[in-house]
Amino acid sequence: MELELKGKRAFVAGSSEGIGRAVAEGFTAEGMAVMLCARTEQKLKDLADRLRDSGAERVEYIAANLDDASDIARIVAETESRFGGVDVLVTNNGGPNPGDFLSMSEEDWLAGYNRTLMSGIRLIRGFLPGMIERQWGRIINITSISVKQPVQRLLLSNTFRAGVTGMARTLSDEVSKHGVTVNNIAPGYIATGRQAQLFADRAEKAGVTVEDIRAQLTANIPMGRTGAPEEIAHLAVFLASARSSYMTGTTIQVDGGLYRGLL
Ligand SMILES: NC(=O)c1ccc[n+]([C@@H]2O[C@H](COP(=O)([O-])OP(=O)(O)OC[C@H]3O[C@@H](n4cnc5c(N)ncnc54)[C@H](OP(=O)(O)O)[C@@H]3O)[C@@H](O)[C@H]2O)c1
Repeated sequence: MELELKGKRAFVAGSSEGIGRAVAEGFTAEGMAVMLCARTEQKLKDLADRLRDSGAERVEYIAANLDDASDIARIVAETESRFGGVDVLVTNNGGPNPGDFLSMSEEDWLAGYNRTLMSGIRLIRGFLPGMIERQWGRIINITSISVKQPVQRLLLSNTFRAGVTGMARTLSDEVSKHGVTVNNIAPGYIATGRQAQLFADRAEKAGVTVEDIRAQLTANIPMGRTGAPEEIAHLAVFLASARSSYMTGTTIQVDGGLYRGLL
């Protein structure tokens, strides 16, 4: 299948590690120019060097905090100026803190709102006008299986990713006439640093080992295993491509069969 991605320009948020990194690797493998972004500059530099060594056409990076509105304004301005526009935007950020309802303070709720809902909205507000001007764009939001089936102790994810989903569905209606599609990828349990932290949190809360938690969770996944970040990236590459041209407003789970609903 010819994906027609060569030469397209992508901004991938939260991309020095985990799912974002796998998406960036998938895009560079297709010949796209990729702007990486995360907080820790050294990790970005190491990844950019590695991708260039393995033949990437163009990889650059911006160290910035996606929780900060002024950093996002800087990200958009710098990327537009260095790349001359972005064709594919992947919204992604670190995950929100876990906790039970009564343990969440006002500040925790506002931090979750800012991180999990507003960082993506701010990126879209920044990059969408250029896509509309060029009459072509792909917006891909990394959300979570929590939009279909709430996850224990992930109250902030369960709450604010529902907001991302509502925003994306509404936006997809508004922008489809401009050749811009908006789709969400909802990962299940994917083996990343974030997942290791969440397993440790659950183990501590339940007074059991991390291995006990892993065994409990994977027993509930029909495929009997957690996923690899690359298994998210394969869908992102397809959604970014010309071959997804008649898909918009969708949320697709990549979860080894974990979600049991019909739709
Ligand atoms: N892994 C899963 O099983 C899973 C399942 C469902 C949903 N998700 C969601 O998918 C997203 C990515 O998860 P992941 O597992 O790939 O996480 P991860 O392995 O922890 O990677 C997160 C990436 O985002 C960067 N980052 C974190 N906070 C940032 C900030 N404030 N500003 C800029 N960059 C930031 C990190 O680099 P720095 O720390 O250097 O900034 C890193 O590159 C999260 O929102 C997570 O909740 C994950």
